[in-house]
Amino acid sequence: MTTLPEAGRPLGAPATGDGRGLDRPGAIEAAFTDADFGTVAALIHRETGILITQAKKSMLVSRLSRRLRHHGLASFSDYVTLLEGRGGQAERRALISAVTTNVTSFFREPHHFDALAALAPDLIARARSGGRVRLWSAGCSTGQEAYSIAATLLSLAPEIAQLDLRILATDIDPVVIETARAGIYDRELLGERTPESLLRVLQEGPARNLVSMAAPVRSLIRFEVLNLLEPWPFHGQFDIVFCRNVVIYFDVETRLTLWTRFATRLPEGGTLFLGHSERMDPRLDPLFSPAGVTQYRRTAVPQSDPALLPTLKNAARKAPICP
Ligand SMILES: C[S@@+](CC[C@H](N)C(=O)[O-])C[C@H]1O[C@@H](n2cnc3c(N)ncnc32)[C@H](O)[C@@H]1O
Repeated sequence: MTTLPEAGRPLGAPATGDGRGLDRPGAIEAAFTDADFGTVAALIHRETGILITQAKKSMLVSRLSRRLRHHGLASFSDYVTLLEGRGGQAERRALISAVTTNVTSFFREPHHFDALAALAPDLIARARSGGRVRLWSAGCSTGQEAYSIAATLLSLAPEIAQLDLRILATDIDPVVIETARAGIYDRELLGERTPESLLRVLQEGPARNLVSMAAPVRSLIRFEVLNLLEPWPFHGQFDIVFCRNVVIYFDVETRLTLWTRFATRLPEGGTLFLGHSERMDPRLDPLFSPAGVTQYRRTAVPQSDPALLPTLKNAARKAPICP
């Protein structure tokens, strides 16, 4: 078992000053052995698809040091033991929260919301004539993406909450889903040029510096915790999927699997939006064609989910979500 220098002293507590303490530059990182790093990185990859290479070791060290402090652990090998032990499930969830990057904003990559506004009239017309319309913000973080989608649609058809048009918004991290559900944000997050459509769905928050999402916009969205790599506990198609700035952290194979799964949930003509640094893999050309900036249109007939997913984790089925 590898023990950190000065075992027993909580991480971050003052060192003894003999030069051997954790305050020594690189001490914590050095105490994270390659074997422990490999175990934790493999667990993160298995559970989330997120790839943590050696180059990101110091990032992982800094995020995990907080977890070690929280548990009063003195070594990373103790932390690995905790993760792998019988009671490790709660800590594995906390680990996922610690390693996910949740950066987001309202109307991030605004051209996608212009594209959504251009696609919306057909969707709204279908909903108005009694049809079902579904959109999915997959990897929604703290909810700004889903609220921006809803604000865009509400600005075009204020009555949509009365129609069969809904947005499912999911994320692997329960902490961000709680924030998204609360729908309360710091006024500063609105930025300087808040779109009119967003201003219309905001109301005063519980404190002067806070704003809150109004009821009509909330009623359009369902927020749920969901790991995109696990079986999806719902049936049915989505007209539009936003999965932006999520696969950037995945390895190539996981990206391909996920995008292929989205293809099974998009009808022909459905749209998938990716993040600004993500590009559809040419191997999936039979399934998607470019339709704008990091915007892809579903082209061919979907194949069945299981046939496409030989490597899918056989996770326990959860209570179904009705998007
Ligand atoms: C950088 S944020 C992007 C938020 C938003 N889509 C945007 O573009 O502003 C990436 C989100 O993906 C989530 N994520 C990462 N791996 C995931 C997985 N396997 N399943 C579901 N969500 C995941 C993270 O928790 C994080 O909130």
